[in-house]
Amino acid sequence: MIISKPYQLDHEKLLKNNSGNRSVYIETYGCQMNVADSEVVMSILADSGFRQIEQMEQADLILVNTCSIRENAEQRIRGRLGEFKRVKNANPQLIVGVIGCMAERLKEKLLEQEKLVDIVVGPDAYRDLPRLISQAETGQTAINVLLSREETYAEIAPVRYASNGISAFVSIMRGCDNMCSYCIVPFTRGRERSRDPETILVEVRTLIEQGFKEVTLLGQNVDKYSWKKDEPEQVNFAQLLAKVAELAPELRVRFSTSYPQDMTDQVLETMAKYPNICKHIHFPAQSGSTRVLELMRRGYTREWYMSRVEAIKRFMPDCAISTDVITGFSSETEAEHQETLSLIEWAEFDLAFMFAYSERPNTYAHRNLPDDVPEAVKSRRLTEIIELQNKISEKVKQKDIGQTFEVLIEGTSKKSNEQWHGRTSQNKTVVFTAPNAKKGDYVKVKIRGATQATLLGELV
Ligand code: 5AD
Ligand code: SF4
Repeated sequence: MIISKPYQLDHEKLLKNNSGNRSVYIETYGCQMNVADSEVVMSILADSGFRQIEQMEQADLILVNTCSIRENAEQRIRGRLGEFKRVKNANPQLIVGVIGCMAERLKEKLLEQEKLVDIVVGPDAYRDLPRLISQAETGQTAINVLLSREETYAEIAPVRYASNGISAFVSIMRGCDNMCSYCIVPFTRGRERSRDPETILVEVRTLIEQGFKEVTLLGQNVDKYSWKKDEPEQVNFAQLLAKVAELAPELRVRFSTSYPQDMTDQVLETMAKYPNICKHIHFPAQSGSTRVLELMRRGYTREWYMSRVEAIKRFMPDCAISTDVITGFSSETEAEHQETLSLIEWAEFDLAFMFAYSERPNTYAHRNLPDDVPEAVKSRRLTEIIELQNKISEKVKQKDIGQTFEVLIEGTSKKSNEQWHGRTSQNKTVVFTAPNAKKGDYVKVKIRGATQATLLGELV
């Protein structure tokens, strides 16, 4: 997922964003967490006199918030750095900064390579940006890639420049302690830590006051959310979900990402209890083979994963489930690949994100498990998985046709200003016509048909 410039600045944002005398242009790559981080970064920069602009040629500062999850994510960003270099050639005063996961992974190396970059800032060091920028303005390079055990940017009010004004991301924890063997995230985002629930509730209340209708609570493994674990006033993820859902019945609450090993029945019960907690769980399986899952250090078996899917359906028969799958992990056999296919077939995921394994430097897998499935095999397996999932998505869509869903209107459809687009509780995009409705309304829509990625409906 790449989100570069989907801005719709609202009044509030303009006030904070456009008063500065220096200008910043930002691009964000990677996950939702990075989108949320960029909003925190823009808040810190606004406070130190930067206004945000959309033309990089006119910027005093270009920032790129980066992702290291797979080699191709990094390749794409390297391409962008080349582009920024061209802009810098025309404007030598320009400061170019790499922030986020690639900054954390490559550290000084980014400064050394071809003088493309002036500042490098890791995900836990954004408060230091103003100082680092000042240092770069004197012609020196500047770097801060310290990871923290405490930083959650808890009290910083993000500038919602990347939002449609209806839905917003709210970060509830940072880092990850899972140490899945293939994954770079624990190295780039550091140790897991939860954010003070009071600050989360304040942030959500502010969003409600500003007219937002949906929040997505973000963490690498939200099921491990835990505030003051050993004290009487402790809050776990299910309790936090309930607190947020209770703030306003007309606010939709989503979250991401759940971890199969840690997802509790208490979370499922809470989801079932509150109509405004959306009935969708992103539930990465990664593989359908217990042996491969063990090598991935996921901490669960195929059977365990299936039993948790059954639990979701037991608590909420109407709950959509999406997943992530990695194909061609170290030593994965043809039979194990078949097990992944059969799991996908069994689970009938509403949506799946599917990837070929990309070895990441210094992970457990890189140090201990050979990347020995040939690229051609990985790519053939990936195609098979994608084709199967396409068939399943088609089948799942057919089940939606004829049903009526409550849809939150998020804006006009891409193709026509006469049509709205919005999502169901199950996170499915619906396009429909409703002349008297407006952005932010909830409407009942009956599904009449579907295209590749969207449902087509009519107002009831
Ligand atoms: N190679 C391929 N895919 C990966 N993911 C994480 N690390 C890798 C890797 N090294 C996938 C996982 C994860 C998603 C965000 O990216 O499926 O859930
Ligand atoms: Fe997000 Fe992971 Fe990419 Fe970092 S490496 S931006 S945590 S997807």
